[in-house]
Amino acid sequence: MTELLITIDGPAGSGKSSVAKLLAAKLGAAFLDTGAMYRAAALTAMQTGCDLGDTARLEKVIDSTDFKFEIEAGQMTVKINNSDATEQIRDPQVTANVRFVASAPSLRNRLVKMQRAFAAEHEKIVTEGRDQGTVVFPDADFKIFLTADAAERAKRRAKELAEKGHKVDIDKLQQEIENRDRLDSTRKIAPLVAAADAITLDTTSLALGQVVEKILGLIKNND
Ligand code: DC
Repeated sequence: MTELLITIDGPAGSGKSSVAKLLAAKLGAAFLDTGAMYRAAALTAMQTGCDLGDTARLEKVIDSTDFKFEIEAGQMTVKINNSDATEQIRDPQVTANVRFVASAPSLRNRLVKMQRAFAAEHEKIVTEGRDQGTVVFPDADFKIFLTADAAERAKRRAKELAEKGHKVDIDKLQQEIENRDRLDSTRKIAPLVAAADAITLDTTSLALGQVVEKILGLIKNND
């Protein structure tokens, strides 16, 4: 039974994952990276070599796959048919193909079910994604919507990628981020939008710790 549920939504690079992880650690809560679910579904479809535009086929592929999302040492691990795919789902090719899963209502419904089942197993949980406060958990206790300038978000992504040894072209990254924002915000189902009762925080000039302190302050004031 979930006693405290906090949703964090926002565009790519707004800091959702880092904020959700640190906030969850401070609250002794679990966290759920729902983007990892969309990525895992896209990677599975890619591995089967099926036409990514063939939603009926993707439904079958997803239904016959065993996905496991677990928290280990403060990180979310992803297993696809018992094989670790935690790193692989971050591949830029997966990022480019995730839209095929994200824009299909029947596929989203499957992932939404997984997200609600995951949350139901935890007393306290911080979930992050695009539609957590609007569609998946409309009755969440606290809803946060994070934003940041596209240039700042590209800078953050570039730093992450560089730390992993990838070569980065920051202008191209910014273009990709803006493109993904457009796709996420304009899709018909569960678009990226702040819930009417969400608190929006612009993180452009805030450090991770400052964002988390702000959220903790909001929670305290509403207790
Ligand atoms: O947060 P991320 O970049 O790992 O998410 C990857 C993609 O998955 C993102 O471009 C849109 C999609 N997504 C979604 O549609 N709904 C969510 N709740 C989470 C992610």
